[in-house]
Amino acid sequence: MSVELEIRGLRAGYGAVEVLHAIDMDVAAGALTALLGPNGAGKTTLLSVIAGLLPARSGELRWAGVDLAGLAPDALARAGMLLVPERRGIFTTMTVRDNLDVFAGHRADVSAALDAFPVLGRRLDQRAGSLSGGEQQMLAMSRALLNRPRLLLLDEISIGLAPRVTRQLFDVVRGLAEEGTTVVLVEQYLSDALALADVVYVLSRGEIAFAGEPGELRGRALPGYVGRVGSGAAQPE
Ligand SMILES: Nc1ncnc2c1ncn2[C@@H]1O[C@H](COP(=O)(O)OP(=O)(O)OP(=O)(O)O)[C@@H](O)[C@H]1O
Ligand SMILES: [Mg+2]
Repeated sequence: MSVELEIRGLRAGYGAVEVLHAIDMDVAAGALTALLGPNGAGKTTLLSVIAGLLPARSGELRWAGVDLAGLAPDALARAGMLLVPERRGIFTTMTVRDNLDVFAGHRADVSAALDAFPVLGRRLDQRAGSLSGGEQQMLAMSRALLNRPRLLLLDEISIGLAPRVTRQLFDVVRGLAEEGTTVVLVEQYLSDALALADVVYVLSRGEIAFAGEPGELRGRALPGYVGRVGSGAAQPE
């Protein structure tokens, strides 16, 4: 499998604080890579650097062989990178219909989103900010369905959602990966993400604590997690 995103010795942080300490990571093209870790591990910071929102202090980042240093977020977005941020990135004061129209852009066809999430079709005239948490996350994920990005970065889309809603969203993520989108799925809770992922990275205090296939994690203890992986254990501390 070819490497879509190659990260070497990446350091980044805020002010005097370094948050990411020499991260190495290979994201395989067309695969679903889970990036896991407890609160404060640096997951959002790493996605922010990849998406061009936060500069790297040192190290290298290459996307499809191209050095990302200094490329602006809008240039990356035009090249097919899409970040669904922790706070969803939807327009809360606009209706669901208007959000979908913005996401679809010149394509103007929003049916892919309504097919995947029929509930949105019943909420078209409602303000996005008045949707339930799960519905808002479905709307956020619609951006990916309507844009078919080459590289999709998802930051804790399951947070606060019922297991049934999480499964529905993860099915859509899996479907996008099967159709060729490279996905980086950031999550704090392990079990659902492990069932979905082809490759797993665990981040702990700004360092990679594990890299491998999900099966290799079974029975292991991880920094920042209580218990061992598998049989529903290993919760964030
Ligand atoms: N804008 C910021 N300014 C200063 N420090 C920050 C900023 N954003 C994050 N940090 C710090 O960087 C560290 C990593 O935060 P980050 O948000 O990347 O963690 P995370 O793994 O995404 O956690 P969570 O699961 O809670 O979202 C934390 O110690 C956090 O306090
Ligand atoms: Mg985060």
